[in-house]
Amino acid sequence: GKVAVVLGGQSAEREVSLMSGAGVLDALRARGVDAHPFDPAEQPLEALKQQGFDRAFLILHGPIGEDGTIQGALEFLGVPYTGCGVMASALALDKLRTKMLWRAWGLPIPDFELLDADSDFAAVEARLGLPLFVKPSNEGSSIGVTKVKEAGGLRAAYEAARRYSETVLVERFIGGGEYTASVLERPDGSLQVLPSVKIEPAVEFYDYEAKYFRDDTVYHCPSGLSPEREAEAARLAEQAFRALGCRGWARVDFLTDEAGAIHLLEVNTAPGMTSHSLFPIAARQVGMSYEDLVLAVLDTSLP
Ligand code: DAL
Ligand code: MG
Repeated sequence: GKVAVVLGGQSAEREVSLMSGAGVLDALRARGVDAHPFDPAEQPLEALKQQGFDRAFLILHGPIGEDGTIQGALEFLGVPYTGCGVMASALALDKLRTKMLWRAWGLPIPDFELLDADSDFAAVEARLGLPLFVKPSNEGSSIGVTKVKEAGGLRAAYEAARRYSETVLVERFIGGGEYTASVLERPDGSLQVLPSVKIEPAVEFYDYEAKYFRDDTVYHCPSGLSPEREAEAARLAEQAFRALGCRGWARVDFLTDEAGAIHLLEVNTAPGMTSHSLFPIAARQVGMSYEDLVLAVLDTSLP
């Protein structure tokens, strides 16, 4: 059948999605799939049906794409698509609701608070300590994220994040390491958690530049976690995935603290597939090429 690689879109991560989508498109074509790019910022989604596509590979990142909106529209149109459904997509793109759900589930997350214009910023700095991470609740690729290191810096960081999202979170700094666990649903419904990847940015934190444009970010896979921690990370990633009702594939980002304990950060339901992205690095570690991975993800669109 004819496959639409749905890419681009209108979020702040548009450029990232175009890079991910180009990789996915090349991989599908290399394996003989009749795949075509489809950018919903440039054509109405209904055209998917009119143009005879019978499946969609969703690689939109960020709002209006990774958040359940496109998924809902495709349900309505009756076009099967890869990855998570409406609810899991919506929850995962909302860091606040993700945290609330995980906390209710007993899963470990960093201490956090909500910020608004009336927050007592000095009191929050005193409660959580410095440094701090300030994030828009509904963005990806670290867009709008600030690491606050100096006392008095929280308000400016709040204002930067507020440009991207009505809801702004501040998180306690967790200073061990930054990792990710890639989860792939197999055709029998079981979950394969790929080996974790450790991320070592050369700059202050793993920001947009470090993610996509710098060549000095170091990715370790195997990540160097002990076998016990690796097994725990895989178990937590699976629980994090199930708690949100994910399906298909997703990437669960997490931190370790100085004692090695794991703290879950967020789930990406349309994980980056650029030449610098993490999921393909983890797949390669188990002998799965980028093209193999793309075909495995395409299979998750099967009804
Ligand atoms: N949000 C980006 C694309 C990622 O998590 O890979
Ligand atoms: Mg993300």
